[in-house]
Amino acid sequence: MQVQPPIAMLAELTHRCPLSCPYCSNPVELTARESELSTDDWRSVFDQGAAMGVLQLHISGGEPASRRDLTDLVRAAREAGLYTNLITSGIGLTEKRLAELDAAGLDHVQLSLQGTDAAMADRIGGYKGGYDRKMMVAKWIGAIGFPLTLNFVMHRGNMHQLSRAIEMAQEMGARRIEVATVQFHGWAMQNRGALMPTREQAAEANRTVAEARARLKGRLVIDYVPADYHADYPKPCMGGWASTGINVAPDGLVLPCHAAQTIKGLEFDNVRDRPLADIWQNGSAFNAYRGTDWMQEPCRSCERKTIDFGGCRCQAMAIAGDPTATDPVCVKSPNHAKIRDLAADFSAQDEAPMTSRVMDKTRG
Ligand code: SF4
Ligand code: FES
Repeated sequence: MQVQPPIAMLAELTHRCPLSCPYCSNPVELTARESELSTDDWRSVFDQGAAMGVLQLHISGGEPASRRDLTDLVRAAREAGLYTNLITSGIGLTEKRLAELDAAGLDHVQLSLQGTDAAMADRIGGYKGGYDRKMMVAKWIGAIGFPLTLNFVMHRGNMHQLSRAIEMAQEMGARRIEVATVQFHGWAMQNRGALMPTREQAAEANRTVAEARARLKGRLVIDYVPADYHADYPKPCMGGWASTGINVAPDGLVLPCHAAQTIKGLEFDNVRDRPLADIWQNGSAFNAYRGTDWMQEPCRSCERKTIDFGGCRCQAMAIAGDPTATDPVCVKSPNHAKIRDLAADFSAQDEAPMTSRVMDKTRG
């Protein structure tokens, strides 16, 4: 099979983070600081990525500002010719640091929002004063003139704040808001009882987004990830496995998606041991679900198989116990009733505890 290069690379510089969101997409086993790639390692990754055809670099974590060499890394990525997008909570960024990032060539900032007021945001992020700090950082971002995307992660506890989040994106001068309902992998999987939206909330969010998209056309782009446990068709996760995106974890493991390590039996290569282009083309994990040949029925003969690629492999693993199964979100999946029941059960658990991400192993 002719393998096209990835368009985008997600570089998870570190798992360290001052926040402790209960839906963090990092793996439950966090990578320790001592195991992180060095500045030179990352420079090589960016050069290799650009050489193989990657265009966009999404610099993420954890909190990427926890890396003291963040500015050097942005400069290295720009020198490699990559478009650079910094995905950040804002905590750890100062006015001076943002100016340095600007001078290093940073192209775009994506700022996460845990809630639209301090009470909500600081409770979810587990960081007192975090919201006020974030609002300050948003002002500095605006003053420098970075193109900004606001990233609002929604769940049962904060979905009622969606309209206000959209207003805030406009007030901040953002060009885009990403409204993403929590995806249940990693830490979020352990907190489904506390985070699962109700069916009514999911429907209300669909209406709010549709209305705002019509009203704000040409002024604000709204990217939307709906509550998929309540949906009828799955999202085209990663635009199809090993199709357009490649992830590099803090320790250099190269992954087809951020939750790929939850699929038992897959083996992942490390950029310390093998060239990036070879991993992308020939790595066993990348070829496991590339294309459509791996599909079972009902996906195999479905007219949507090149639209949603059978949904999410990690969700198929988590709910159906088989990564080659149809994503149970799909109405055609034999496991669809199971995900419906899970959604109803979890969304009714009003007393469910919320476990914050713990980062003892990586603090520092
Ligand atoms: Fe998508 Fe598979 Fe469902 Fe068809 S059967 S809509 S390809 S998940
Ligand atoms: Fe792994 Fe969807 S998160 S394929």
